Amino acid sequence: MSEPPEAIAGVANVDCTGMQALVTGSTSGIGRAAALALGRLGADVIVHGRDETAGAAVVDDLAAVGADATFVAADFADVASVRGLADTVRAETDGLDVLCNNAGGLFRDGRLTDLGVERTFHVNHLAPFLLTADLLDHLRDGARVVTTASAAHNGVSLDLDRVGRVESYSGLWAYSHSKLANVLFGAELARRLAADDRDITSNSIHPGAIPGSGFSRFLPGPLPRLVGALDAVPGVTSVADGAAELLFVAVSPRTADISGRYFSGQQPTLPSTAARDTDAAERLWTFSADALGVDEPLAEPADP
Ligand SMILES: NC(=O)c1ccc[n+]([C@@H]2O[C@H](COP(=O)([O-])OP(=O)(O)OC[C@H]3O[C@@H](n4cnc5c(N)ncnc54)[C@H](OP(=O)(O)O)[C@@H]3O)[C@@H](O)[C@H]2O)c1
Repeated sequence: MSEPPEAIAGVANVDCTGMQALVTGSTSGIGRAAALALGRLGADVIVHGRDETAGAAVVDDLAAVGADATFVAADFADVASVRGLADTVRAETDGLDVLCNNAGGLFRDGRLTDLGVERTFHVNHLAPFLLTADLLDHLRDGARVVTTASAAHNGVSLDLDRVGRVESYSGLWAYSHSKLANVLFGAELARRLAADDRDITSNSIHPGAIPGSGFSRFLPGPLPRLVGALDAVPGVTSVADGAAELLFVAVSPRTADISGRYFSGQQPTLPSTAARDTDAAERLWTFSADALGVDEPLAEPADP
């Protein structure tokens, strides 16, 4: 049995009483473990996903540790659903201290969403972009935005033409590309928040390669069950380890003043060259706002 995420992240003594946290994709896996840890540390938690039964179970688990928790269902492939999540968060909280953009997946078949955008890019990148933009003025001073990216972002570069089509679809490429978008988004958001003098940090993380989360649902045949069992094997990166990475950046005093970085192994780490391309980050930002039909949130930072 591995240690809880708060112990692994060295934040077991951090008091989150009075804090409001939204963890997207917290019906399962890394997000669920992070949401439960935030609740144990004293935060009120909004649990999100699509699975109502799983969401209700996480809320019950949070209530059992004395946390005030609500589940909000929203499908990240649907713009109205994401906007509805933001509206509910506004209605049910008077501000957010932690926004974990964690929901995501790898989809083996190529599909376009109603926006005419490939689904992986939409769910993994456009939805958190929209949610964050919609909640920007609801983030309290000192708030932290943490986006769950992946080391899978390595090896691809930004190709915004390709997100408009699904011919010759590769689920792996689409996933890697969406995770590159997560790293670029986390850094660009940090630059724009700083330029706007907002006291809010934005970072992205690689949680580790974690066989025991629900992520293995994307594997064929009996593999999800077999791979899931690896969570208990010593030495294998566990769901608790992945949640710890999220917690470390979301609440540790050691990361309070760090923004615009990509964390792996509880260290700011250099992402790929493509993920450090500030022009690409800016293009992605403009493209995302245009695709969603929203005003660009936060002004472009002035040239250094
Ligand atoms: N596991 C790994 O090895 C690994 C490595 C690097 C990065 N990551 C990243 O870690 C994050 C969490 O993944 P995980 O490993 O914890 O997998 P997981 O157990 O499958 O959790 C994924 C979460 O995302 C939600 N989600 C998926 N599609 C959604 C949609 N269309 N709309 C709304 N919510 C949706 C799921 O909720 P519902 O099922 O309720 O919809 C679930 O709560 C993802 O961003 C993933 O890319 C994972």
